[in-house]
Amino acid sequence: MCGIVGYIGTTEARPVLLDGLRRLEYRGYDSAGLAVWDGQKINLAKIKGRVADLAGLLQQQSVKGTVGIAHTRWATHGEPTTANAHPHADCKNNVYVVHNGIVENYKALKDQLIREGHTFHSETDTEILSHLIEKYLTGATTLEQAVSRALKFVKGTYALLAIASSDPEKIVAARLSSPLRIGVSADQVFIASDPSALLNYTSRVVTLTDGELAVITRGNYTITSLEDGGAINREAETIDWNIDEIQKSGFDHFMLKEIFEQPETVINSTRGRLIPAEGRAVLGGLADVEDKLRALKRLTIVACGTASYAGLVGEYMLEEYADLPVEVCVASEFRYRKPSLIPREDAVLVISQSGETADTLAAVREAKAKGVLTLGIVNVIGSTISRETDAGVYNHAGPEISVCSTKVFMSQLTVLALLTLLLGRQRRMSLVTGQRIAAELAALPARMAELLAQADRIKTVAQHCQSAKNFFFCGRKYNYPIALEGALKLKEISYRHAEGLAAGELKHGPLAMVDEHFPVIFICPKDSVYEKNISNIQEVKARRGRVIAIATAGDTDIAAIADDVIYIPKTLEMLTPLLAVVPLQLFAYYIAQSLGVDIDKPRNLAKSVTVE
Ligand code: G6P
Repeated sequence: MCGIVGYIGTTEARPVLLDGLRRLEYRGYDSAGLAVWDGQKINLAKIKGRVADLAGLLQQQSVKGTVGIAHTRWATHGEPTTANAHPHADCKNNVYVVHNGIVENYKALKDQLIREGHTFHSETDTEILSHLIEKYLTGATTLEQAVSRALKFVKGTYALLAIASSDPEKIVAARLSSPLRIGVSADQVFIASDPSALLNYTSRVVTLTDGELAVITRGNYTITSLEDGGAINREAETIDWNIDEIQKSGFDHFMLKEIFEQPETVINSTRGRLIPAEGRAVLGGLADVEDKLRALKRLTIVACGTASYAGLVGEYMLEEYADLPVEVCVASEFRYRKPSLIPREDAVLVISQSGETADTLAAVREAKAKGVLTLGIVNVIGSTISRETDAGVYNHAGPEISVCSTKVFMSQLTVLALLTLLLGRQRRMSLVTGQRIAAELAALPARMAELLAQADRIKTVAQHCQSAKNFFFCGRKYNYPIALEGALKLKEISYRHAEGLAAGELKHGPLAMVDEHFPVIFICPKDSVYEKNISNIQEVKARRGRVIAIATAGDTDIAAIADDVIYIPKTLEMLTPLLAVVPLQLFAYYIAQSLGVDIDKPRNLAKSVTVE
């Protein structure tokens, strides 16, 4: 979704802002722009298209100065056009604003401002903000006073930055439900919607929370409450994400790099948390609520997209090993379905890479309003969900740049396996079972590395299917969610039609579509449902369908039935999803690569979905 960058310091703002915008490109956007104070006036440059197009525009247009704000826009109100791109100015070209979020009452505010004589140049809700600030600058002594007064009339969500020629040498920022982080470094201060845009310059980061306003000057920042103007002291935290992790390191795409990082991801997500000898897991972020967890009668897992499929795997894990009733619900449904939740008996666990997904955040708030314990599995440190949940676990997967999630999915599965150990051992899991799961989890990175070494073989299998337009992905039990995830990966980056199915559902309808042009990918490791999967494979073969099997190493029987087999190393049934998903990620990647699509930034999608 939209990205924000701001800079005030001692060097030219333009390269810093462009660099920040490039680092936010992965979030998905359709236009870009910036505004910089040159000591006399604010110069604006914006364009429909890529950050590279903006950089091209800036070769013809002089934008100099050391204070500036910039934005990548993903259209919500109004088409993706240059006029609708941010920053947006007021009538006098005095105030410039960039904004993430939605002004819900924009229509009423716009009508009122037009009646008062303001002229609008875009269809966006954001432009309201620059005019409202213009209005409240009359009678205010500072830009921050005007911003604060204007925001009292705004309903909706925002992360916004404002600069003004009438009160230059500062950036005013405000936040409600959309993230903003300040990066501090000697006499320069940076601000961005995502730490990736800051980490090239500083690892010292201050997170604004909802209802706060910040004034950023050279080398300094102050935070106040939007509600009562009270001063808020907040020290910077250190984010130890390495900037090298945000580069491609020789891979053609971030997605491929992130797929290959997965053995390391499992190591990072389990570091210091897994005690194989004692067959248990230690999750510091849940320590304060362990008694409440012990008393739980039901867990509802809520998430969106890939994270919801991780949640489904968690459901199988927790039900089998912790004997805990679990239900999984996508967040966009959960928030409107009036879920019945009982305090002290129920808990809601949300899973979110970004920690900012609007629907998932709404689910947290809904659950809190009902008085139940809220837990999070979140990757981005200091994100809104991580702050608003009662307790939680960080994935420690590092930044994921590709829109299509791979290594974070792996870290979500890993954390869910750790949670299963924790809750299982609290309940009825024996020491021996705990030790077995922990040992298998510890052995997984080496097995995953073996699997990744077969990437060329997976590429060949993908090439066999290059011309197919439709795909089914089938699995049972633990690997049913992996079938869903495999289909989602393919859809996201190749734009091919793919459906994930519980293999047992094939004959209840989907089988009607199968013919020799229709590849069906079966995830069928040697597990408790192996024979059932084999029967389903036979049904597809009888209709001349092309079968690709993801099978356990050493399974020679399956090679006689399937057209292609990709072998995964043997592991515990509960952990097979962590291996089985890897060839499916690579399969999607290689199909997309052969089609020449923009793999890291698939059309129409965004990394972080901060609107409903
Ligand atoms: C978007 C992303 C998906 C992600 C989903 C949930 O749709 O493209 O990759 O699974 O949002 O995001 P979250 O940050 O909450 O995990």
